[in-house]
Amino acid sequence: MSKAPKQPIAGFSKLSKVGKIKWIVENFFRDPDTVMRELTGYWHHNEDQQKVLDGFSENTISNFLLPYGVAPNVLVNGQYYCVPMVIEESSVVAAASSAAKFWMDRGGFHARVISMIKKGQVHFIWNGPHQKLVDHFADMQTALYRDVQVYTANMELRGGGITRIELRALPEVRAGYYQLDVDLETCDSMGANFTNTILESFAQTLCRFVETCPEFSAEEREVQVIMSILSNYTPDCLVRAEVSCLVEALGTFADGLTAEAFAEKFALAVQIAKHDPYRATTHNKGIFNGVDAVVIATGNDFRAVEACGHAYAARDGQYRSLSDCEVVDGQFRFWLDIPLALGTVGGLTTLHPMARRSLELLGEPTARELMEIVASVGLAQNFAALRSLVTTGIQQGHMKMHLMNILVNLGATEREKNLVQGHFSDKVVTYHGVREYLEQIRTQPATFAVKP
Ligand code: MEV
Repeated sequence: MSKAPKQPIAGFSKLSKVGKIKWIVENFFRDPDTVMRELTGYWHHNEDQQKVLDGFSENTISNFLLPYGVAPNVLVNGQYYCVPMVIEESSVVAAASSAAKFWMDRGGFHARVISMIKKGQVHFIWNGPHQKLVDHFADMQTALYRDVQVYTANMELRGGGITRIELRALPEVRAGYYQLDVDLETCDSMGANFTNTILESFAQTLCRFVETCPEFSAEEREVQVIMSILSNYTPDCLVRAEVSCLVEALGTFADGLTAEAFAEKFALAVQIAKHDPYRATTHNKGIFNGVDAVVIATGNDFRAVEACGHAYAARDGQYRSLSDCEVVDGQFRFWLDIPLALGTVGGLTTLHPMARRSLELLGEPTARELMEIVASVGLAQNFAALRSLVTTGIQQGHMKMHLMNILVNLGATEREKNLVQGHFSDKVVTYHGVREYLEQIRTQPATFAVKP
């Protein structure tokens, strides 16, 4: 039966960390002492580091561990990277590594940032004649740029800043609804704070401008700001990663599948994901297996990257594959266009101890280089998934990991693991089947004795 408090708690956030845990374990768990030990057991042994982690969020009571792995030998634009990946799904890192190795022998990944523009909007209502606002927009822009100088000066020194402010009227949303649509370059930072600061300042300037404009009538001097916020849809913060080789250089595949047949099947699999949203979603999920793992390892915002990537995948009105493939004149070409608003300075990238190490492991990349690495890993992951799907199927690889997880869960010894792995090498793995076989090993040791 569920154990839950009869009353809501008041002032939870004011409790100490131990106080919070005590309330939780006593009210929600059958064995409070054990859970208390577990939750505190995941605290960082270094108190200062734990304080840093606690500072990222609120009501923190413990840490949630995820595996931190690496894919070595990822060759991007002629440079080898050992790429950190934080992911809980078995086979993802192995698949990325295997695809990276495959392409390492065929020239590696070629990646190129197409543009790095971020976006933000001030949404507002103004009920005067549209043309009047348009006529005053040049003056308003001058005021907008002037008032944010204090925030943009540093960014401009680094080569960034505001690159465009557009006034957009969208009467189809509501009469008098407008946007200040703003493009920004935020250099090596993801730029969320910078952008939102600029936008909120723009909102104030907009109000001041409208309220004091001598050419506006009393009614026209009223403006209502609805909200000022960055857009996570950044189709112009775009990177392309690509691999290519002669079809015959693809080699041969399981069950005697020729390079030509493989290339054709592979290209068709991509084509299917271009047309069928059901397949496209899974196809793109495979890409994000790699993308998210590196985005998380480097302390970037994976929700923003995911939201943007999926919006981009549906940019023509239908959700489609983010990657493309063509086989032309004996040449196999596979590429991925993906918007990635990433940073390598500021925010969690600088604060999270492991994010900092990840960036060091990658050789302190610029945001541009990180975009190229992440897109390449996404493409590697997609290649590995499709290669398995059009040849052996993915269960073969997955089941090996699945079996290991079951064995760990059942507390198998090394000897037991070897015996079970041997037994299931040509059989379908199920939890039930593994447990039964393990029981046999344990209850009839003589039958399974290692023969001299
Ligand atoms: C599993 O996490 C990802 C795949 O389903 C991707 C795909 O189907 O392309 C293997």
